[in-house]
Amino acid sequence: MSIPSPIYFAPFQSITTPTFRRVYAKHFGGVDKLYTPYFSGIAVGTKLPAKKLDALKNQFENGIEVIPQILSKDAQEIIWFAKHCEDLGFKELNWNLGCPYPQVANKQRGSGLLLYPDKINEILDIVFQKINLPFSVKCRLGYQTKEELTTLIPVFNNYPIHEITIHARTGKQLYGGQTDWDSFSEISKQLLHPIAYNGDVFTPKDFAAIQAQMPNINRWMLGRGILYNPFLPSQIKGYQLPENPTEKLRMFLDDLYFEYRKDKNDNLAILNTLKEYWSYLIHIFDDPNKVFRKLKKCKTFNDYEDAVHAVFHAHDIVFK
Ligand SMILES: Cc1cc2nc3c(=O)[nH]c(=O)nc-3n(C[C@H](O)[C@H](O)[C@H](O)COP(=O)(O)O)c2cc1C
Repeated sequence: MSIPSPIYFAPFQSITTPTFRRVYAKHFGGVDKLYTPYFSGIAVGTKLPAKKLDALKNQFENGIEVIPQILSKDAQEIIWFAKHCEDLGFKELNWNLGCPYPQVANKQRGSGLLLYPDKINEILDIVFQKINLPFSVKCRLGYQTKEELTTLIPVFNNYPIHEITIHARTGKQLYGGQTDWDSFSEISKQLLHPIAYNGDVFTPKDFAAIQAQMPNINRWMLGRGILYNPFLPSQIKGYQLPENPTEKLRMFLDDLYFEYRKDKNDNLAILNTLKEYWSYLIHIFDDPNKVFRKLKKCKTFNDYEDAVHAVFHAHDIVFK
């Protein structure tokens, strides 16, 4: 039997929190790396504040490596953060060149920086003189057009980047529109680094279709697909699913809820965090809209517990 390709769980700001990563990794198999949502605003020359340190507590979750991510256009900030990560025991740092939101991209950060190959070259040049940790990149095909990443090929090829994950869209597309497999394939063949594919793998069928198109790719970053269906990495790898997946999902959700209450001292704001996760998870149920209607009006912990109970009483999970 062939060894299954590594699967990485993509970062999601305010969803894949430390609590979420810890509880997910305890209940589900198939993921080989977990990424933190991006860190930004690192003050060079000073210690990391408690809140950031708290979000960097665990270097592994149930044996799965956690990779911190930074969003920055400042080489010194990247180097300073890398030093913290190294001291804390992390094994890799990832650079976010993919964030598409205008408030980020307009400041030449995230995918907005892809428009400036000279600036990227300058940052990589400084970073690689100082960094000890393996340094990886998560990017898109470009901000406005896919030609931007083509222009960056010789820049990236000049540095020992640990791995490049490419979301096969431009920043302007945000999270909609078609992924561009042809451009991804073409670019990935010209880059000298290990390349991971990212974008719109929602079902084992999607995975099989993309894999068939890209025989040279053997690393996969999955995002919304895992938020929609936490069993997806196991399904893709052909692992045996639990005998009763509904019961397993319920146990995971209960654990997530109580761990959040513990970690956040019963702060009601966790209901918003959980609702945001549910806005993805509803897709595993037979009637996503009805499920979300039950969840979205919860204002107290009792409301939430009752709503989750009602969802599992009235709805079945359906694998696509
Ligand atoms: C709400 C939200 C938050 C995200 N936060 C991050 C982030 O912090 N860092 C990052 O690199 N990507 C972030 N992403 C992008 C995802 O990691 C992923 O690349 C994207 O969803 C495409 O993959 P998918 O089609 O498998 O979901 C975010 C996406 C969404 C929708």
